[in-house]
Amino acid sequence: MIITKLIEDNDELQTLTKLQFAKDIAIGLTAKPKIISSKYFYDTKGSQIFQEITKLEEYYLSRSELEILEKIKNILPDLIGKSEVDIVELGVGDGHKTRVIINSFLDKNIKVNFFPIDISAEAMHLLEKNISESKNLNVHAVVAEYIEGMHFAREHSKNRQIVLFLGSNIGNFSKKESQKILKTIKSILKKDDFLLIGFDLKKDIDLMTNAYSDHEGITAKFNLNLLERINSELGGDFEVLNFQHRALYNPELGAMESYLISLKEQVVTIRELKKKFKFDAWEPIHLEYSFKFLEKDIQDLSIDGGFKRISNFKDGNKYFIDSLWQV
Ligand code: AVJ
Repeated sequence: MIITKLIEDNDELQTLTKLQFAKDIAIGLTAKPKIISSKYFYDTKGSQIFQEITKLEEYYLSRSELEILEKIKNILPDLIGKSEVDIVELGVGDGHKTRVIINSFLDKNIKVNFFPIDISAEAMHLLEKNISESKNLNVHAVVAEYIEGMHFAREHSKNRQIVLFLGSNIGNFSKKESQKILKTIKSILKKDDFLLIGFDLKKDIDLMTNAYSDHEGITAKFNLNLLERINSELGGDFEVLNFQHRALYNPELGAMESYLISLKEQVVTIRELKKKFKFDAWEPIHLEYSFKFLEKDIQDLSIDGGFKRISNFKDGNKYFIDSLWQV
């Protein structure tokens, strides 16, 4: 596997990334109400904890999507109808879902060039366990944000592309941001390329809430890890035991929202920001939106993005949809 790091190997970019992190934390913890973007969950430790989340009984999303991919895996090679394909994945996990798709091409003797894109270099190493190169499979990992990674893949890609945007990763973005990302994705793709995109559907509120507040506390650990990341990267002195994770469904937004709640009045110092941040007792930091969808929301997004919608594929419980779109 070749790994191209558009982010971390380059000192200048690494400094920029860290400056951006520092700046966003300073702004977010000064804001009222306090907020930090969920994109900062995924340092090495965070990526590992997220993999644990995907295996939890309560976190139905991964299981439901795997069921769908198993069901539809033979449709994609037939749709492509070529002897070689370029698969681009936005935000990779440990690769076990992607493996299903890749194998369906390899089994039909179709050559696959796989371009996983993720901001975490650690995610690429998790991936390596499940996806290693073989005779008909080239892997070129790109450590980058989605869009710059896609541009990179485009420059190195000669075949019809299938872009995988799985796991309801799009759910972290607001409607406006999603519309913008989808338009950008479309502008990078060529005519007849495909996008397979996962959406977690609106459902019973207890089911959704439990998925983000598992009884083993893995999701709590995932959220609290962000405070530890601030401690180690920016010299913070967050006392994680003084914060509690809470996930609540907001029916007006149609989103699960994750918060860390300050359990008492406290002051946190972040050395590299040269700043102190005061927390009231019970004051929240907003960490994540995970938007949930109706079928008509998915249709609206595809129309708005200018894609042709080929099909919506659901799991048996109708918890999740992988929607196949074409340029
Ligand atoms: C990776 C963004 C799809 O929102 O469900 C899991 C992240 N956060 N548990 C999601 C997450 C808490 C996840 N996504």
